[in-house]
Amino acid sequence: MTLRELIACRIRAGGPLTTADFMGLALYHPSLGYYSRVPRRTGRAGDFFTSVDVGPQFGALLARQLDEMHRLLGGPAANGFDLVEAGAANGQLARDILDAAETDFPEFYRAIRLTLVETSAAARASQSETLGRHTSRLVAASESMPERVQGVILANELLDALPTHAVTMTAEGLREIFVDLEGNQFAERTGPPSTPDLARHLDRLDLRLSPGWRGEVNLAAVTWVQEAARSLARGFMLLVDYGHPAEALYSDSHGTGTLTTFRRHQVGTPEDDAEQRGGPAWLAHPGTQDITAHVDWTSVRTAAAAEGLTMLGLPDQTHFLLGLGALDDAPTGADTASVKRRLALKTLVVPGGLGSTHQVLLLGKAVGTPTLCGGSFKT
Ligand SMILES: C[S@@+](CC[C@H](N)C(=O)[O-])C[C@H]1O[C@@H](n2cnc3c(N)ncnc32)[C@H](O)[C@@H]1O
Repeated sequence: MTLRELIACRIRAGGPLTTADFMGLALYHPSLGYYSRVPRRTGRAGDFFTSVDVGPQFGALLARQLDEMHRLLGGPAANGFDLVEAGAANGQLARDILDAAETDFPEFYRAIRLTLVETSAAARASQSETLGRHTSRLVAASESMPERVQGVILANELLDALPTHAVTMTAEGLREIFVDLEGNQFAERTGPPSTPDLARHLDRLDLRLSPGWRGEVNLAAVTWVQEAARSLARGFMLLVDYGHPAEALYSDSHGTGTLTTFRRHQVGTPEDDAEQRGGPAWLAHPGTQDITAHVDWTSVRTAAAAEGLTMLGLPDQTHFLLGLGALDDAPTGADTASVKRRLALKTLVVPGGLGSTHQVLLLGKAVGTPTLCGGSFKT
């Protein structure tokens, strides 16, 4: 059975699915889901690029930030440092961080106890090979977060990939967007919200939403942050993603929502899906395209604060990486390796690229309010 048939059967048997349930199956069905089937979906051979795919520079710069965090937690005297990466895919970012730490920050390298958290079994199975000689640093490769972390919880582009609900405001009040069948085609259907949590979530944000407005409410992102915050005994959380504060995300400038699909480096369309002609792109190609939505940083920050985390900064990626000295030792040579490294840094830092679309949320627990180098760049 294909994933499309499986989803259609579920709708016939149980009625329309929420957007979150559809996205959960399309991305994470254990054997047919988009992320479940292969170790890594990004990069030139994949469907879209993350900062990790640009080259090892992103991980090397993160290693500087993590080394500072290690020192703030007591350095070698602290008796080890948990580095937990969530949504780690095949472990490429961890590998880049460990490569840089081994050469540039040996004390930090020796302290690292690495845990990779990843739902995709195919991705988990490939992590040891990616880590190579650093596999001895890996204490766990798991589907779920460890119970107690003393160190850092790190995630790059995890929150945008969590299954989200979609809602719309009507003259009659808030309605949810469901996925139904029209003949054999998937179609959007609005109906009363599947859970009161959606209205509660929006009420807490105290927004004015006009009829016709549509957007996403990512309850799973809030739950993930709450649980991660609870597992952090002492240390930092560093979340990189693309998003907006709630008042910008839930405004007219994003009044049709931010659900987006990627397939072979193109924004997906239903026209090239043999069975789903027309309709919204996110209903096409279940299991073979990415579906993503922008992060509501306000809700993420609020959830973290409620669990005792302190906000230490929310710079965009450009300023974060400049604070870490991204351009301080940029290679100047005309050889191919130097040119490649300059181009990679440009993609990561220059406004208009990943630098301005992505932000870095820096949080701390039981660490005071240090100014981190990633949050220190002044224009
Ligand atoms: C957009 S990819 C980002 C991969 C990698 N961090 C990078 O930046 O290249 C999101 C990853 O998060 C994983 N994922 C999704 N939900 C997760 C969860 N609740 N816990 C751990 N990993 C999850 C997916 O399987 C996928 O590998």
